[in-house]
Amino acid sequence: MTTVYLNGRFLAPDQALVPVSDRGFLFGDGVYEVIPVYGARLFRLDEHLARLAQSLAGIRLADPHTPGEWRRILEDLIERNGSGDRSVYLQVTRGPAPKRDHAFPAVVTPTVFASVSPIAPPPADLAERGVAAITREDIRWKYCHIKAITLLGNVLLRQEAVEAGCAEAILVRDGEATEGAASNLFLVRDDVLLTPPKGPFLLPGITRDLILELARDHGIPAREAPVPASWLACAQELWITSSTREILPVTRLDGAPVGTGRPGPVWARMHALFQDFKARQRAAG
Ligand SMILES: Cc1ncc(COP(=O)(O)O)c(C=O)c1O
Repeated sequence: MTTVYLNGRFLAPDQALVPVSDRGFLFGDGVYEVIPVYGARLFRLDEHLARLAQSLAGIRLADPHTPGEWRRILEDLIERNGSGDRSVYLQVTRGPAPKRDHAFPAVVTPTVFASVSPIAPPPADLAERGVAAITREDIRWKYCHIKAITLLGNVLLRQEAVEAGCAEAILVRDGEATEGAASNLFLVRDDVLLTPPKGPFLLPGITRDLILELARDHGIPAREAPVPASWLACAQELWITSSTREILPVTRLDGAPVGTGRPGPVWARMHALFQDFKARQRAAG
């Protein structure tokens, strides 16, 4: 992280200071986005900015920038931070307030922060082995469609996964699988790709939508439908997806193999389509 953006200025990270009265710090009162950058190009920026606008509307905070302003800020930030594949983190909080009070302050001056980080490459033996996951009860709140910085439920669930030697916790609410602690969920059942429908219990993932688009464009049968938790253990394939982890095949769930215990053919096809899509975006930039 060499240069970060804070409230209109590009700064060294140790110069970027936020007051302790900031409601992001005190209440987790804010929203965020994580946007991959392939080459010098922000991947699916319009979709990320649309989701940011939805998240801001969900917490009743005015969007501090137009899409054009966001693009200029983020492209400027990327240019100041070297080259290659990276990801942009951006966060908007309800800003500092004169006193610590749960209700919104009368005057809101949002805090806008953005930084750039390297994207970790997928594990080298991914196509051979896949990753392991655990299932857990979804202990989070009921506005999971908002990409809020208030992430304690996700944090605790992901930590449980890490302590179990797993890449992710797959969450179950009222008997249905919803998503991962920081990813969306896909499974293959009866040769059809399934993912839970959008709603308040899961984040509308940008990667998720792209996978559905690629499936539609390439004749891979796919459906958005509720996924009873009992389908997880007998799925032919299970995947978790996110902007930074792309499409990870889950080959062990709660200690038992998923399908053949190896990444499946639908994953291999979708992984190739996704890589091809990325390469074309990079070339277009
Ligand atoms: C809870 C949750 N669900 C889903 C996702 C995947 O969303 P995206 O594909 O937009 O990264 C994330 C990403 O971090 C997440 O935190």
